[in-house]
Amino acid sequence: MSVTQTIRRKSVRDIRKGSEPIVFLTAYTAPMARFLDPHVDVLLVGDSLGMVLYGLDSTLAVTLDMMIAHGAAVVRGSEHACVIVDMPFGSYQESPAQAFRNAARILAETGCAGVKLEGGAELAETIAFLVGRGIPVCGHIGLLPQSVNAAGGYRTHGRDESEAAGIAADARAVADAGAFAIVIEGTLEPVARAITEEIAVPTIGIGASPACDGQVLVSEDLLGLFADFTPRFVRRYADLGPEISAAAAAYAADVRARRFPGPEHTVGAAPKAKNVAGASPGASRPGRRVS
Ligand code: KIV
Repeated sequence: MSVTQTIRRKSVRDIRKGSEPIVFLTAYTAPMARFLDPHVDVLLVGDSLGMVLYGLDSTLAVTLDMMIAHGAAVVRGSEHACVIVDMPFGSYQESPAQAFRNAARILAETGCAGVKLEGGAELAETIAFLVGRGIPVCGHIGLLPQSVNAAGGYRTHGRDESEAAGIAADARAVADAGAFAIVIEGTLEPVARAITEEIAVPTIGIGASPACDGQVLVSEDLLGLFADFTPRFVRRYADLGPEISAAAAAYAADVRARRFPGPEHTVGAAPKAKNVAGASPGASRPGRRVS
């Protein structure tokens, strides 16, 4: 008898408040999704990809087609994590109908489990509209990168009482509208703590203290792959940027010195009398196999 073990991909129903913190990380590509997938509950295809991958100076120019292409890649590269895709600026703010049309495209064309959109009470009607029509929604309150122009830059939100009360009201409205989780970005510990204690859906913090039910970071930040700047709330778990640079330098030196490709990388080469000395060891290029 053969026993086939199937891995069940997590769904939004698995993202619940509990004793164990919930782990989100961003992913934008299939290979990165493959590395992260066994370790996280949620892979978030964040519109931060505009800055991290495309070198844009904000997320505002990210398009629906970009999000769909990267969302589909992350779904293909993962099998365990729940994949959530950000709705980009301009794709949901106009009306609930516009939001539904675009969220439906994201779900249908990527195979992801749900969408995330930025905004509080003003988007409660849109969130309820999507959730009521079968589209799971993750909210995002506090610092809203898509509203950077209106907010006057990337700054901590909720420092004064009225702003803190506004974020709490946003959390209530988004939770009541049916969001399955809420990302809280860039706020103070007491604000995040009070919201987390009050609302029934899990809060996922980024620069919002350990009081949240889970945490999210941009993967390139924790891996040392995004050198433009490192926010205070990021802990670097690896410094891959310099390693990539060193690997590229070693490759360039080998090519220039004709140490690469070596005989082991060459098909049909005439046998050489002498071995090629000093060739760098290294794996052959992945993804292009020629026999
Ligand atoms: O776009 C993104 O990556 C995000 C997370 C940082 C929460 O929204």
